[in-house]
This record gives sequence, structure tokens and C-alpha cells, in this order.
Amino acid sequence: MKHKVVIGITSGIAAYKIVDLIKILKTQNIKVEIIMTATAVTMFGKEMFEKASGKKVYTDLITNDFDYQEVLKKREVEHIKIADTASLFVIAPSTANIIAKVAAGIADDFLTTTLLATTAPVLVCPSMNVHMWTNPIVQENLAKLKGMGYFIKEPDSGELACGYKGVGRLSEPAKIADEILKLLSNSDKLKRKKIIVTAGGTSEPIDAVRTITNRASGKMGSAIAEACFLQGAEVLILRAKNSIIPRYDIKSEVFETAKDLENLAKKYVKSYDVIFHTAAVSDFIPENKLDKKLDSGQSFTLKLKSVPKILHKIKSWNPKIKLIGFKAVYKLSEKELIDTGMKKLRESKSDFIIVNDVGKEGVGFAVDTNEVYIISTKGFVEKIKKAPKKEIAGKILDFVF
Ligand SMILES: Cc1cc2nc3c(=O)[nH]c(=O)nc-3n(C[C@H](O)[C@H](O)[C@H](O)COP(=O)(O)O)c2cc1C
Repeated sequence: MKHKVVIGITSGIAAYKIVDLIKILKTQNIKVEIIMTATAVTMFGKEMFEKASGKKVYTDLITNDFDYQEVLKKREVEHIKIADTASLFVIAPSTANIIAKVAAGIADDFLTTTLLATTAPVLVCPSMNVHMWTNPIVQENLAKLKGMGYFIKEPDSGELACGYKGVGRLSEPAKIADEILKLLSNSDKLKRKKIIVTAGGTSEPIDAVRTITNRASGKMGSAIAEACFLQGAEVLILRAKNSIIPRYDIKSEVFETAKDLENLAKKYVKSYDVIFHTAAVSDFIPENKLDKKLDSGQSFTLKLKSVPKILHKIKSWNPKIKLIGFKAVYKLSEKELIDTGMKKLRESKSDFIIVNDVGKEGVGFAVDTNEVYIISTKGFVEKIKKAPKKEIAGKILDFVF
């Protein structure tokens, strides 16, 4: 399928360089669609971009000839169609203003409304004065976008149009084009792969109203499911009832107890190629579940029994499946952590074990960031430094596939 890249041009002084980017993309047989902000049109006009792309440039959400009856009859809205048919969105140059608007979810013109409506990956290419770039509010907005899975092409350092020297120059069009081609090729990377992701924490009943659970949120699993989906895989997420729901049209089944999850995994594992088992499964369950609500006025003894690990059973259900297990450890030295991961790899016959130390701040349960070690059967260990879970998910996929 021919890829379509939608380029949003905002009013950074480097916008004229986007003509070169359009030309490069066209030589790669990529369809290009252009949207400009009103300020960018005032600064540069549309003509050079229309000439380079050979297509109409979009700016106005509503034009003077707008006819709502026509929209209702045709059931077609221009910006939604563009949002839906994009393989990739690129905002180049990205002003500080558009970065703030996207981070805040503002949709007050053609570009921002289309960006909010798209499910395609978005590459943000900032360019601005060095003091704008180092302004904490700009950095905070960018960090927010990174945390949500937006891709950022960092600006270069050098002479700036405003006379300053420093970071803020738009990355060269050829480098942006390379990034675009990488992201587009990634979008087909897992085509025809069937991938299961388990996510969130199990919950075991004590009595009719109380449960034993853990602090897993499903964020890491959800990020992996989304990353697999964006790389073209057919994804099934088995998620805890209270865990977060991934974006996109990802098939999901819900579990509550470890037994529920085991039944679902057993059912699906046979017909899938890969499983990321990120769910935090209870190692213990109450020996007896009480079919009543325990009286709060009295103390009681809760006896727990250990249950066999789902991770250790997966290869017996499907020996050919690629198994990626996750192991949480608590305040271990790096050596202890790696040894624990290696042991887990052997015991579970996993192809990879991803270990994180949940005793560290900003790592593991319920937070948006993680730091992981990837251990493979080749004995190879790779550390992925603390970063947003969406970024960690992308790096895990790069390593595993
Ligand atoms: C000559 C000139 C150059 C500008 N260059 C930049 C720039 O490189 N980066 C930036 O963030 N803003 C730049 N601005 C400011 C933006 O144009 C301004 O913030 C505008 O409101 C952004 O609107 P837009 O994001 O809708 O295009 C420039 C303004 C002028 C007048």
C-alpha cells in the first residue's frame, strides 16, 4: 500500500525548507498532503507548497461555502478523512505554539483538529529561538507529548534565523525524511504477526466483597500492545478488569483472577506467534473463598496457598510461541537483578525476560515511566534507561524483533 504522509506546516521561519522535504518524499513514491496554520500562510503563502506537492493546501476548517446539509448528506468531513487516511503525521516546523496546543488537546483550526482526530503516529520537528527551546514550559509540553507516544525529531544546534547561536534549528529535511522512512517501514514491520499481551494485576477474592490484588496498572502492557498495533500486528490484549484500556482498535478480553487469566491464555496461546506476559499475577490465592461478607468487628486468619506460574506453562501450550516474560524485583543490586532474570529465563523457557526493579523511584507499578533490563537466551543483557513506558515499549520491540 502506498503510504500517505500529512505534513502540518506551522509558522516557524524554517518552514520554507519543507519544500525540500516534500520533494524528497515524492522521490520515494510517498503521497503527501499539506495543512498549514493561518500564520504560516500569512508568512509564506501556499503557492510554493502547492507547487511542490502538486496538491491543494488545507488551512480553513470552515470555508465560506460551507453547507451543513451537504455534510449530512455525504457523511464525509474533510479533516476526518485526512486524519483517517494518514499513515504518518509530521509537524514541521513545529512552533512552540503548536507543541503547547497539541499537549493541551486544543482543536481550534484545521491542523490541530486533524491532529486530535488521527490515530496515526505523529512526528514533531521543533524549530525555534534557543530561549524558547530552553523555556521549561516548552520542555514540559514536549515531555508530555513523548510520554504519550509522539515522536520528536530534536532540533540541531547552530546559527538561528533570529541572530542567536544555539539549539533550535530545524533538523535538516534529509534527516527528517530518514526519520519518516524509518517510521513508515516500522508500520509494516509486524504485519501478519499475531501477538498477545497480558496486562494489569490479578485480583483474588477473600470474601464476597474483598480481594487481594497488586498495584499493577496495565500501563506497560498497554504501551506494548499499542506499539505492536502501530507496527501492523494483529494484537489481542488480555487485561485486568481495572487496568487501563489501550488506544486503537485492539481486541481485548478481561480477566479478574489468576485462573481467569490462565484459562484465557491457554485458549489463545495456541493460535498466536508471540506473547508479552506483562500481567502481574498473584503468586498466592486464599485457600478458601468465603461466600459471605466477613464481619468487620472480628479479626480472622487468612491462609494463602501458592499457585503455579502461568509464565512457566505457556511453552507447554505452544512450544513455538515467542515468549517474553516480565519479572519485577525489589531493591536488588544490578548483578542480583541479572542473575534473577537469567534464572527466570531458564525456569520458564522464555525467549526473553524483561526485569525491572520496582523498588526504584519511577520504575514499575502504576507510574508512567520504567527502567528495564532485557535478558535473552543468548545471555545478552541490555539496559533501557528510565523513560516513558511508551518509549520503553518501542525499544523492547526493537530488541525482540
Ligand atoms: C519572523 C518570525 C519568525 C518566527 N519563527 C518562529 C519559530 O521559528 N519558532 C516558533 O516557535 N515560533 C516562531 N515565531 C512565532 C510564531 O509565528 C507565533 O508563535 C505564532 O503564533 C505561531 O502560530 P502557529 O503555531 O499557529 O503557526 C516566529 C514569528 C515571526 C514573526
